Amino acid sequence: MCGIYASYSKNAAKKVLLGLKRIEYRGYDSWGIASLKSGNISVRKQIGKLSNLKDIVFEQVDLSLGHTRWATHGGVTKINAHPHLAKNKSFALVQNGVVENYQDLKEKLISAGYEFVSETDTEIIVGLLEQEMEKKAEKTLNPEIFAKVFQNLSGRNTIAVITNDGRLMAIRHGSPLLVGKNSRRDYCFSSDILSMSDDMEEYIIVDSGEMVSFNCATKEFVVTNIETKMVIVKKFAPIDHRAEVSEKNEFGSYMLKEIHEQATVLPRVVSGLEKNFLLATKMLKDADQIFTLACGSASFATGNTAYLLRKAGYKASAIEAYEADSYLNLFNKYSVCIVYSQSGETADTNEIVELMKKKGAKIISVVNMPGSTLTQMSDLSFMLRVGPELAVASTKAFFGQVLWGTTIYDILTGLKFNDIEIKINEFEHKLKEWFSNNEIQKKIENLAKDLTKHEHLFVLGRGDLYYASLESALKLKEISYIHAEGFSGGELKHGVIALITKNTPVLCLVAEDKNKANMLNAISEVRARGGRTIVIAKQDNDLYSDWIQLPDTRDYIFLSSIIPSQLMTCYMAMVKGYDVDKPRNLAKSVTVK
Ligand code: M6R
Repeated sequence: MCGIYASYSKNAAKKVLLGLKRIEYRGYDSWGIASLKSGNISVRKQIGKLSNLKDIVFEQVDLSLGHTRWATHGGVTKINAHPHLAKNKSFALVQNGVVENYQDLKEKLISAGYEFVSETDTEIIVGLLEQEMEKKAEKTLNPEIFAKVFQNLSGRNTIAVITNDGRLMAIRHGSPLLVGKNSRRDYCFSSDILSMSDDMEEYIIVDSGEMVSFNCATKEFVVTNIETKMVIVKKFAPIDHRAEVSEKNEFGSYMLKEIHEQATVLPRVVSGLEKNFLLATKMLKDADQIFTLACGSASFATGNTAYLLRKAGYKASAIEAYEADSYLNLFNKYSVCIVYSQSGETADTNEIVELMKKKGAKIISVVNMPGSTLTQMSDLSFMLRVGPELAVASTKAFFGQVLWGTTIYDILTGLKFNDIEIKINEFEHKLKEWFSNNEIQKKIENLAKDLTKHEHLFVLGRGDLYYASLESALKLKEISYIHAEGFSGGELKHGVIALITKNTPVLCLVAEDKNKANMLNAISEVRARGGRTIVIAKQDNDLYSDWIQLPDTRDYIFLSSIIPSQLMTCYMAMVKGYDVDKPRNLAKSVTVK
């Protein structure tokens, strides 16, 4: 949530604007850029998406600091947008995180006479810094004051400032921060590595509790530990990850493109990784208890992995990170936890990983963002390599996570890695065929048009397809803003059936397995109440009001069933005229709790 990008270089403001565009997935309520020229800081802010911006020209400056916001405290207004300028205009500050003790700090500042102009928790930090500067009779903000004030904030926060005497400083606690540099001694501070301007050559990851400070006058760059005040020598590493230039092409949206890409990225999830997969399965075999951990869509993928592990005979429990409390006493050095996170920066997830590590549990993570915090914390980490996912709603990363879990299951149940690769190639081929079947694609589009008339939709799945039903419902909520609930086909008669009336649409995911008979029962119960059953299955049946034909594959029923529902959701949102890549109120990387 929220993106930070700062630059010291020729034409810094332009570089910041470009950097912010690349991290806009972190929040797109509003944006702002502060620039330093001849000792004066000017701030430009705007509400709305940066990507909608046309013809904006910035003055030539050497130092700029920018921010894209995902509102937590205070509405989406220009005043609440970052950067926030100090009253004496000596610095401008941006924040990624939440000041958890903000009420207490705000009251104290108000009683000390500080006048707030915004509703943000960020302005509290500005007020505290100004107060401390006054106490110390300092006209400009120095690293000592910056670090001292930061220590009064609770919560996961990363903050950055530019000062009117030409300093760029940032402190990280939780929310990610990286520093890039090149041989001209240009610098950039950014929330992720892929956003760094193309002329950056090397980078470091700033760790929690570290302050980075760059002085434009002396060109001195220093990293310090804010508690011990010791200077830390960090070695810059070459940047080997670049943002893949990604165009929407004929798809018109990243989401639709990324759904289609699922047919081609499959082999990348496993290729060349036999050794690591075998290591992971050894860790799982040696564990007393296995946990899976994630949030949102990723938690449906981990839920499915835990389900498969139990089927393979392992004690596995799926934990949603924000509901981990009751499990805390179960973690120990014999536990192994599988963690999925597209971003590797999800605060709810990473906080539990930190706790697990303290108790000695081993962490296996599956992430799609290079250099992420979660990767750094893991005993064994896998990069999904499905390519950057630019649409906020997860599709191909989720797909990769499910494939990763299925691969682990296949190995644990005796399949050779080579045979798994063959199976994946076959699946890839069948999926491509399915995508190029115009009749099926048109049918999904037409169904989507029809379903936009409804306000509520239910999704039923069971067994192998239970978590696919939960994920389908989440996608419908996120993108097409339709109230959708996913649940097990078995649950229907225990309550939800009360909501089924004439024409209520019920999306049903049916596998050719032992659950089929029970799913058919549920489907006939829906039909008996006049409901409309839209069924994603391999074979048609008289009970289905509408049938969406699945690819003719032996395996990967979860993966093939999720695609038609993703497509349907995407088309529904497009019909309604929504921005499918940047749905309202969401952000791709949820770095606040
Ligand atoms: O970056 P992560 O995979 O850890 O994110 C977890 C969830 O926030 C994420 O899956 C979210 O539910 C998406 N909006 C799904 O489309």
